[in-house]
Amino acid sequence: MSYPNTMGGAEIPMWIDEKIIHLGAEATVTSGSWLGKSAILKMRHPRGYRSPKLDRKLTRQRLSVEARVLGKLQLNDFSSPVLFDLDLENGWILMSRFEGITLYESLNQAIEPLEKIRSFGGLIRKLHEIGFSHGDLTTHNVLIDENNNLHLIDFGLSRILPELEHLGLDLQVLHECLTASHSEYENAVDELIYGYLNADSGLLGSISSKDVIFRFNEIRGRVRYHA
Ligand SMILES: Nc1ncnc2c1ncn2[C@@H]1O[C@H](COP(=O)(O)OP(=O)(O)O)[C@@H](O)[C@H]1O
Ligand SMILES: [Mg+2]
Repeated sequence: MSYPNTMGGAEIPMWIDEKIIHLGAEATVTSGSWLGKSAILKMRHPRGYRSPKLDRKLTRQRLSVEARVLGKLQLNDFSSPVLFDLDLENGWILMSRFEGITLYESLNQAIEPLEKIRSFGGLIRKLHEIGFSHGDLTTHNVLIDENNNLHLIDFGLSRILPELEHLGLDLQVLHECLTASHSEYENAVDELIYGYLNADSGLLGSISSKDVIFRFNEIRGRVRYHA
């Protein structure tokens, strides 16, 4: 067994790192390879203002949620990374890497933006039907490849067995992101709703897309009222 890299002192078996692709407030994301496969290492780092004990707890919680969600999504043929390895103690998760750019970048290129937003709506519906909310639906957390296929990432704030409110909030968070970062697409929210409703499979036991959109509109109303 070889340990070619010791990222911050933690040993990552079979991992060879290439370059840092994202330095976030909570995690550093590095691209590289794992057993010869194109991979991503997400290493969570402590946040200074939180107590070390709370920090460790949050890190473990988010990583274990992310790993559980990725595992179940794989079983459902959902387009998200394949989980390769995980270390809750040292705060890292290893997964497959997608080629492509973020939807954020793609929307800025303005090529068929409304189609992409509609298809994102459909992907969100699929996630909700599998039984998860995402918790952080921004256009930075979805990747688009050269065939315009979307891949969802970053499941640390997901909920397993979400309530209607969590599903409505997913749409609200994305709506706020679209309004703030992509305001040139005035009809974005209509496309999002269209894509979401259209992807409803009528699956027994799942919360219907109509109910989720109804709740989303309620949340929008609440937010407007308080603004
Ligand atoms: N599996 C992946 N394949 C390709 N790029 C990825 C992958 N996971 C993360 N990234 C890139 O790294 C960025 C940050 O990853 P993310 O999981 O969203 O971490 P954070 O919790 O810091 O937002 C993403 O916006 C994306 O650009
Ligand atoms: Mg992210």
